Amino acid sequence: LQTAVTAKAHTNIALVKYWGKADQSLIIPTNDSISLTLDHFYTTTTVRFDAHLTADEITLDGLTLPTDGQQRMRHFMDMIRHEAKITTFAHIETANHVPTAAGLASSASGFAALAGAAAKAAGLSTDRQYLSRLARRGSGSASRSLFGGFVHWHAGHDDASSFAEPLTEKVTWPIRMIAIVTSRAEKKIGSTNGMQASQSSPYFADWVKTANADISPMTAALFKEDIKSVGEIAEHNAMSMHATTLSAEPPFTYFNSGSLQAMQAVQDLRLTGVNCYYTMDAGPNVKVLCEAADVPAILARLQPLFGSYNLVVAKPGPGLTYL
Ligand code: DP6
Repeated sequence: LQTAVTAKAHTNIALVKYWGKADQSLIIPTNDSISLTLDHFYTTTTVRFDAHLTADEITLDGLTLPTDGQQRMRHFMDMIRHEAKITTFAHIETANHVPTAAGLASSASGFAALAGAAAKAAGLSTDRQYLSRLARRGSGSASRSLFGGFVHWHAGHDDASSFAEPLTEKVTWPIRMIAIVTSRAEKKIGSTNGMQASQSSPYFADWVKTANADISPMTAALFKEDIKSVGEIAEHNAMSMHATTLSAEPPFTYFNSGSLQAMQAVQDLRLTGVNCYYTMDAGPNVKVLCEAADVPAILARLQPLFGSYNLVVAKPGPGLTYL
């Protein structure tokens, strides 16, 4: 139990979104989802159990975490201790190479890395499917970050049946995702609260149907490496998800003026024949899906609007690794 274990996990962006829970405490989603793991953004986490500790010691980039983040991680560690039948607390050091809470999904890479490091340090199995189930209970989208490339999270109906599986771990297709950072501020409504609020929308049941119906055509389009179909399904899926925020009671939105400007720019580029599509998560940043050959034309259009500093080009990335 004394050895330190370090794990590294990359963030992922959903092409078919997870947005809604059938079980709040086990984090069983209302629908299946599909994502792309990215190379650019990742988290490394070191876990070392220590018999002298009276509570978990948690730091993020060398600093103490805010209380809500602490609580979520302690709760997760309690689950690990329960699984491993131990009572020892741990030192947990996290380094985030992801803009925290700016809609670039640091909780996905964060809980995937924590699940990997904590499970191994506690002597639990490091089977990826098992780690995916553990990570899911920290943050749903984290279940997908155990794997590289294109990943399918099966919603399932209980803890054993809800886990992610790779579709293609090593992607050779030069697909790219350009993140447009329209705000670096902490998001106001986190995904946990946002999706719960969306479940009050009269359209929520239709969202679940739409998302489940998108799974098989998205899978086929990914295998065909068909950017047009992948982009169209992803864009429609994301906007259907965001429609449940606008129709929630009370309504809310993740869009800011920059998001609208970015989506308009992508639509305009498409009219000029460039294959590019957008998706958005629980924050105002926009992510553009395209192929590598079209990146220069897209950046040329976006740079005057947002500045190079706010544009990040990401490629498909790997699954969990131990350092
Ligand atoms: C919009 O996984 O962050 O990014 O399970 O409550 O922690 P919790 O939510 P989280 O939600 C991610 C929502 C999303 C879409 C997605 O990643 O599929």
